[in-house]
Amino acid sequence: MHTPVILSFIPIFIISVCGEASFRVWGPGLKPQAIVMPARYFFLQSYNESCNLKDLEVEVDGTSPENQRCRIWKNILYTHNCLYIVRYKLYNTCANLKISIKYGEVEQTYDIKSYIYPEDCNCPRVPTDKWLNDWECGSIPNQIVKDLDTFKAINFDNLREKIIEKFNQPGSISLCHYVVKNNEVYRQCYGKYVGFKMFMDSILLSLARKVLLPDVEFFVNLGDWPLVKDAKDNFPIFSWSGSADTFDIVMPTYDLTESTLENMGRVMLDMLSVQGNVDYPWEERIPKVFWRGRDSNRQRLHLIELSKKHPHLFNASLTNFFFFRDEEEKYGPKAEHVSFFKFFEYKYQVCIDGTVAAYRLPYLLAGGSLLIKQESKYYEHFYNDLIPDTHFIVIKRDLSNLIEKVNWAIENDDKAKKMANAGRAFAMENLLPKNIFCYHTFLLNEFSKRITNKIKVLNDMELVENTSKDCNCDKTNRDEL
Ligand SMILES: *[C@@H]1O[C@H](CO)[C@@H](O)[C@H](O)[C@H]1NC(C)=O
Ligand SMILES: *[C@@H]1O[C@H](CO)[C@@H](O)[C@H](O)[C@H]1NC(C)=O
Ligand SMILES: *[C@@H]1O[C@H](CO)[C@@H](O)[C@H](O)[C@H]1NC(C)=O
Repeated sequence: MHTPVILSFIPIFIISVCGEASFRVWGPGLKPQAIVMPARYFFLQSYNESCNLKDLEVEVDGTSPENQRCRIWKNILYTHNCLYIVRYKLYNTCANLKISIKYGEVEQTYDIKSYIYPEDCNCPRVPTDKWLNDWECGSIPNQIVKDLDTFKAINFDNLREKIIEKFNQPGSISLCHYVVKNNEVYRQCYGKYVGFKMFMDSILLSLARKVLLPDVEFFVNLGDWPLVKDAKDNFPIFSWSGSADTFDIVMPTYDLTESTLENMGRVMLDMLSVQGNVDYPWEERIPKVFWRGRDSNRQRLHLIELSKKHPHLFNASLTNFFFFRDEEEKYGPKAEHVSFFKFFEYKYQVCIDGTVAAYRLPYLLAGGSLLIKQESKYYEHFYNDLIPDTHFIVIKRDLSNLIEKVNWAIENDDKAKKMANAGRAFAMENLLPKNIFCYHTFLLNEFSKRITNKIKVLNDMELVENTSKDCNCDKTNRDEL
């Protein structure tokens, strides 16, 4: 037995405040030495009556170990009610970082005397439990507790063959078998369409760069539908969508995970950007339901029918006909693409299943409109924590009470607004990039504790290439000590 040497590093904050602060600052981006993310972020809440993007000035600056200037890209988002989000992306290692916040006449500075690494540095330093603590991940999410409840002890030596045999039917499945061993990621995929493995690969590699993961073995379903229909099988399989009549273990969708990893990168729509681009006060939003989407579910056609009957309550159109091409005449014409941010010019957003749960739901919650959600057996990793009539309005699966609920919202504007705000607050507390990293780490950690077989890399598995940079993290940490 050897215990890994934990290189703990002591952050030194010098916080200087001049004048009286009429604001509060908090968030993971103020702990950049411990919380490494693609885009670090923190919040500023001002207590002034009215606010403006111009009121806030932030500088994030520092020097690299070679005494060069740090390369940093920063971006300030004004959300609503005087709440700002500041995010910044680091492109090289910094030996110190100074975050200066100037709001009105008041200036506040954070000096972090530590090495601070960009996300692509391969610097796992701490074991999972310490990492979860450093990141202030809180307690194990309810959904993980529930999903793992039936798995007291998992022995893949007895399961592996059975799972592969059951699901590796020609053409039917996209399944990958992963092993994480000594913080390296290995996998073997089964099925014809396994391109989506890239999403699982990227989150695993990203975690392996930050944390000493436990050795663990698991299967990931890359398809839309959950797989484990038979309780007797008791197969532990990770999926992006769960359902009331299956037993898959859910994890954040590839979409939400990708937007976490590509924050300030490739994606435009993520849980932070959506808040900075929908600064429409509730009172100015149009009191109608807005909806756009493709025809991946019969009920979506039904929504169009309702909207044609009640044009004063809806602005709803299909954007694409694929599943019901022959009905385009009745349910068309199809609409031009509308920027997702524009959805929130309207007060009410309706969420109707596509093939499974509609993966846009996190963004709908974050946009500050009232979410009206169709009853569904499908769910993402956080749905079971949402409370109907508190965070959103639930409607019948066949939409038969949709009109009634929209009329209720129009007549009870204060209650509708309160619910919309509660939905947004839920998204802020549970679905931001930090939460998504925490969820994956919790899941791997809890899952690994239940595995009883010896974790080994199997012959046919391939190493998932590590594209990260070395960044001298061991060396720099040692220097620091
Ligand atoms: C916020 O309010 C305080 C106190 O009224 C004032 O001193 C400060 O200038 C205001 N800040 C901004 C940015 O308006
Ligand atoms: C519905 O929304 C689209 C996209 O924002 C807009 O161009 C159109 O004018 C709206 N239709 C009505 C009837 O308001
Ligand atoms: C991953 O990258 C690090 C840093 O460049 C390197 O030390 C390590 O050997 C790599 N691991 C694999 C499996 O390639």
